[in-house]
Amino acid sequence: MSNIIQLPGLIDCHVHFREPGFEHKATMESESVAAKTGGVFTVCDMPNNSPMTITVEAFRDKVRRSEKVKDVDIRFFFGLTSSEDIGEFKKLMSDEELKKKCPGAKVFFDHSTGDMGADKEVLEEAFKVCAELNTPLVAHCEDAQINKEAHDMISSSDSDTQDVSLHSLMRPCASEAKAIADAIGFAKTYGTHLHIAHLSTELGLKLVKDAKESELTVTCEVAPHHLFLTVDDYEKLGTLGKMNPPLRTASEQQALWSGIADGTVDCISTDHAPHTLDEKNADNPLSAPSGVPGVETMLPLLLTVANGGWPHPDSDRFSDIGFRNSDIVRLCFENPNKIFNLGASDELKIKVDTDAEWVIKGSELHYKCGWTPYENWRVIGKVI
Ligand code: DOR
Ligand code: ZN
Repeated sequence: MSNIIQLPGLIDCHVHFREPGFEHKATMESESVAAKTGGVFTVCDMPNNSPMTITVEAFRDKVRRSEKVKDVDIRFFFGLTSSEDIGEFKKLMSDEELKKKCPGAKVFFDHSTGDMGADKEVLEEAFKVCAELNTPLVAHCEDAQINKEAHDMISSSDSDTQDVSLHSLMRPCASEAKAIADAIGFAKTYGTHLHIAHLSTELGLKLVKDAKESELTVTCEVAPHHLFLTVDDYEKLGTLGKMNPPLRTASEQQALWSGIADGTVDCISTDHAPHTLDEKNADNPLSAPSGVPGVETMLPLLLTVANGGWPHPDSDRFSDIGFRNSDIVRLCFENPNKIFNLGASDELKIKVDTDAEWVIKGSELHYKCGWTPYENWRVIGKVI
């Protein structure tokens, strides 16, 4: 049997395709094949490359590299880590051709992979300039001070310092909430369109909801790993479950699904962040790099839920998820298309067989890194 539905080719507005600088983890070509296979036709790539995408020259280089990729439309966020970068961003935005490839700027409130954390003065200037340029500012919201305090407290206690699940305690929910509150404060002062990346907490969601109610232009995205995995998965996944922001409890996860249902969440995007298995198997699990791949598995995971199932083999579906195929179109096409002014056409369709049931295997996906945190999960929906 087969049941074929049509959806617009999806948009994933948060990926790390690693080129240039980390081609041993992934390349634009390898990950575009994965994206296409997973029904994703447009992606927005992050600036934590080597060199970082913080100059017009580095941006132009990424655009040139992307010209060899025919099937997937790759856009590039510009990173803002210093006043010089902000000057470069202004230059970029005055170039009509390059501007078309840039959906907005990206700031990190704390360091993550790539060490692009910015200090408060730079962050504030970034909000001001993005408002003047009328372009969205995407923020990785974790508070540097709270993370440092949590990290130091746990490191000095007598907990097992090899236990990867401590990663979630070292980057606590309060850290995300504080950074989101600060970001919303800046957005309010300057009138910036703030987009919060990979929101992972109930507290954060509440702040976004309040901001929307007071008519601020604040949008947010959640990632599949926070929708499907929790701290309980560290036991099986080890460092394959390590990312920033980290895995949270089931109650935070349930709040994210409620945020999807009530419209507070604008987008689902993957934060596709591949690292090699060798890198993940670091001697000390807490030093393993953060990030998980996800661009190829987003659609089947979501289709499984939209069709009444739950893909996680060891946890249960929440009873009140009212999630449908139309929500996938809203969260993974319409909203990101609008927020980042991407101009993607809904005429470019994918055909999906929603009767096709299959088992996710890292070795059969197209990622260069060859693994997935959803190994052996049973899902529905094959792009044909
Ligand atoms: O887990 C993460 N991985 N979070 C980030 O902020 C960056 C990303 C990466 O590039 O590996
Ligand atoms: Zn990211």
